[in-house]
Amino acid sequence: MRIYTALVLTNVFSLTLGLALPVCTQIQRAVSSASAVYFPASGHYTEDLAHWVESSTQFSACSVEPGTAADLSIIIQLLGQTRTPFAIKGGGHTGNPGFSSTPGVQVAMTRFSGVQYNATSGTATIGSGLIWDDVYTALEPHGVVVGGGRVSGVGVAGLTLGGGYNWLANQVGLTIDTVVEYELVKPNGAIVSVTASSDPDLFFALKGGGNIFGVVTQFTFNTFPQGQVWGGVIFYGPAQVAAVTAAVASFANSVTDPKAAIIPGYTFQLGQTLAVNIMFYDGPSPPPGIFDQFLAIPHTSADISTRSFLSLVQSAPANVTAGTRGAFHAVSFLEYSPEILDAISNETTFWGTRLAFAGINVTYNVEPFLETIYTHNPSPTAFPFYRTPRTMPLLFEYLWTLPTSDLIAHTAMRQSAEHLTRVAVEAGQAVAQAPLYPNYALFGTPIERIYGSNLPRLRSIKARVDPDNVMGLVGGWKL
Ligand SMILES: Cc1cc2nc3c(=O)[nH]c(=O)nc-3n(C[C@H](O)[C@H](O)[C@H](O)COP(=O)(O)OP(=O)(O)OC[C@H]3O[C@@H](n4cnc5c(N)ncnc54)[C@H](O)[C@@H]3O)c2cc1C
Ligand SMILES: *[C@@H]1O[C@H](CO)[C@@H](O)[C@H](O)[C@H]1NC(C)=O
Ligand SMILES: *[C@@H]1O[C@H](CO)[C@@H](O)[C@H](O)[C@H]1NC(C)=O
Ligand SMILES: *[C@@H]1O[C@H](CO)[C@@H](O)[C@H](O)[C@H]1NC(C)=O
Ligand SMILES: *[C@@H]1O[C@H](CO)[C@@H](O)[C@H](O)[C@H]1NC(C)=O
Repeated sequence: MRIYTALVLTNVFSLTLGLALPVCTQIQRAVSSASAVYFPASGHYTEDLAHWVESSTQFSACSVEPGTAADLSIIIQLLGQTRTPFAIKGGGHTGNPGFSSTPGVQVAMTRFSGVQYNATSGTATIGSGLIWDDVYTALEPHGVVVGGGRVSGVGVAGLTLGGGYNWLANQVGLTIDTVVEYELVKPNGAIVSVTASSDPDLFFALKGGGNIFGVVTQFTFNTFPQGQVWGGVIFYGPAQVAAVTAAVASFANSVTDPKAAIIPGYTFQLGQTLAVNIMFYDGPSPPPGIFDQFLAIPHTSADISTRSFLSLVQSAPANVTAGTRGAFHAVSFLEYSPEILDAISNETTFWGTRLAFAGINVTYNVEPFLETIYTHNPSPTAFPFYRTPRTMPLLFEYLWTLPTSDLIAHTAMRQSAEHLTRVAVEAGQAVAQAPLYPNYALFGTPIERIYGSNLPRLRSIKARVDPDNVMGLVGGWKL
């Protein structure tokens, strides 16, 4: 049975590769010298296909690096006309297999790498092939920032198109809330500027709609003044987990300073549940009280200081080693109460113990945000489909090395999400149908949980913008 499935898959796979090859050659002939097509022998090909977790990478017939919007338009039209499966990759940080990989044509956006700061408008126009580290580096000399990835290596494009929880979110909202203009190659190849006034429906749809509505070449963001920040990462041993839980509950339910943020995590490694916390304060030193409880707990190591925004982002361990497989999933909470945090800590130990045989390391990251996080943008966006009451994500991150552990991990993550949602509902939180963050939710999550009451509007925009369903040739969330 298993051999049969493998044979069928192999045949479908080589069929796609074979059909896609002539399209690669067609693209090569049609594009300008600003763009390039690479084949499996090339190092560029390997780089274009690579993802943060290996399980999100698959062999493609070729990779294409478009260098201009005009070339990208030609490429999208050729792929659409020939109905060739393809993928669009930004920073390659998706945990979902097939969301930015394909057996067809891999489009890597790396050549869209500009950062232009306009001091008059206070905006920055940023290429969709960059990672946030590049953005922070380029904007630092201007004393401004765009709120994006909170740790190193995350792509601008995927994070922004999916929503964007960021260190400034309590002050300015999600990253999507700060976008004022998109340069988009539509599924029919038209190159357009999308703003709130040029096409309000499409502008709404791109704010959380991922790769459903076309390919973005650049984003224009509002920027915010940025000086030195305070924070970094702190690690705790197994004996301190209960004390960390108490500190997290206290932070989540009492700190109202929008400049303060944390991402505490529970992780099971080598038979033990450990705790970690990334702390952020938007200023050179935090007022007393906010982080004292975390600092007072005995810790195994810490890297906390007054530093640049970029240095803080790069302080957390976020670049995994080659060959690691992995996936993310999430649940949404209305409140991080001590009981919920206790259940999350228990869940880490429970699944960590149970999945050790398959070499799976489990981590749960708690993301507390203020009640006001979604009030900074009065306009509706594709995600989240409601803004009050505000929901907060819990991110699960499972990492392993063996392909045979894929199904075990995915199944456990779904069960864990169901369990934690049930615990929250039993505690009185109305989260059974709460929005799930598209950038964290595991593939297979019902689309109602991602776009909810926005689905009818999104479907009608999709029918107008992509009547031939060209973006149906890429993997990702489908309406
Ligand atoms: C270590 C790590 C840290 C993270 N930190 C954060 C965080 O702080 N906040 C947060 O909100 N999320 C965070 N995430 C989640 C992150 O937002 C998602 O993984 C996101 O999808 C990554 O974007 P990417 O461009 O790197 O990924 P990719 O895998 O390249 O792309 C993700 C999706 O976006 C689509 N896409 C990419 N480029 C384009 C484009 N130009 N036009 C249209 N569609 C496109 C792809 O087709 C794919 O479906 C983190 C993930 C990791 C692994
Ligand atoms: C910068 O922004 C101002 C104000 O919106 C605008 O008039 C100007 O054209 C922009 N400059 C560039 C180089 O885009
Ligand atoms: C993480 O990886 C990215 C992409 O390869 C790199 O640009 C970045 O500098 C790395 N970050 C750290 C802190 O090493
Ligand atoms: C967590 O586990 C402990 C020890 O097994 C148990 O006493 C406690 O009730 C559990 N809490 C939750 C919320 O599941
Ligand atoms: C799991 O954790 C252990 C202990 O920290 C580490 O040595 C191993 O590399 C991790 N495995 C993966 C796949 O991350």
